[in-house]
Amino acid sequence: MAEVLPQDAGASEVRRLRAELFALRQVPREEARALSAAFYTSREYLDFERQALFRTQWICIGHVGAIPTAGDYFTTELVGEQLLIVRDSSTVRVLSNVCRHRGSPVAQGAGHAPRFVCSYHGWTYALDGRLLAAPLIQDGKHFSKASCRLPQFASEIWQGYIFVNLDGSAGPLAPTLSPAIPFIKNYHPADQHFLFEAQEVWQTNWKCLVENFMEGYHLSPLHSKTLHPVTPTKLCEKLPDGDSFTGYRANFHPECPERGPYHADLTPQERRSDVFYCVYPSFVVGFCPHFTLYMCIRPLTADSVGIRWGVTGIADDPGSPVVESYVRFCKEFCAEDRMQLERLQCGLNSLSYVPGPLGPDHVEGTVWDIIQYMARRLGQADSAPPGASIDLRD
Ligand code: FES
Ligand SMILES: [Fe+2]
Repeated sequence: MAEVLPQDAGASEVRRLRAELFALRQVPREEARALSAAFYTSREYLDFERQALFRTQWICIGHVGAIPTAGDYFTTELVGEQLLIVRDSSTVRVLSNVCRHRGSPVAQGAGHAPRFVCSYHGWTYALDGRLLAAPLIQDGKHFSKASCRLPQFASEIWQGYIFVNLDGSAGPLAPTLSPAIPFIKNYHPADQHFLFEAQEVWQTNWKCLVENFMEGYHLSPLHSKTLHPVTPTKLCEKLPDGDSFTGYRANFHPECPERGPYHADLTPQERRSDVFYCVYPSFVVGFCPHFTLYMCIRPLTADSVGIRWGVTGIADDPGSPVVESYVRFCKEFCAEDRMQLERLQCGLNSLSYVPGPLGPDHVEGTVWDIIQYMARRLGQADSAPPGASIDLRD
């Protein structure tokens, strides 16, 4: 029996989606539309993003406030890499958390250590990754203790946030974000106190969460009792975007009381608005007058996302009522977002969904910016001959 099978269903789906992104580059703003569902559900497309975005770009993995003193560390996974983020005297290093012996992680969770001892056979590493001890092992043709170390990844601290670039190919991050500085400098983010951090897994595609954090369209309908009374949808405004970021301002409802304590440098407008930025592809941060809320987002599977989120602020006591009440507030509206995004992911599995139009700039211009970033980075004209397939007829 004659049977014609696609050459490689996964590869052809990635090619089709990249061609869709390429075509979106030419779509005028007034015809802006959402991405096809497969961008959010395809395992093969996620594999492509892991290689093409998460290994090549600057990815935020946490805040320096989590490791204030030498020997403090935390670990994380990022697209299959095990990372060990450690403060070595005044330097923050991002090391490979994989033992040079037989590959076990050398540290777990977070904590404080003078050195790292692999639990499997006791190989021991200094805070800078140098091998200090390898019991019973002698130098040989392919191994020298003196030159053995945990590999170190390229990293950069921007405004207190730790970014890693796994393949070392990205240029410096800070210059690409300098156009955003006038909009955030008065909050003095790098001087804020580290007050709270938590990790969560939500059942949604990582892009759904980035887009959700970055658009004000849903503030009034979804957050009718939490955020709408503070920052209603109709008062949102788009901020200028750049090659590697986008942002918007959510102005306060006139009846919303001031939110303090805030930095004396804040302008009257900054005292009565929140400013949200996305550093592409997956770091989002909201500067409120009194606190800053951030999310370091990493894909786990096509329909699940790992989130490290936290709060910094002018206040310096994590246990103070004003901090506890803000963290409680964040948990409340994040629970609303989570519920909505997990529902959204179910909807995106439907074959009948056709991408709808995006709202105007002040509410969904940021989503269009994110899509255009994807289109710039990942879009590719489809060069495959039409109908390319393997013919299995004998
Ligand atoms: S795998 Fe780490 S000491 Fe053997
Ligand atoms: Fe939300």
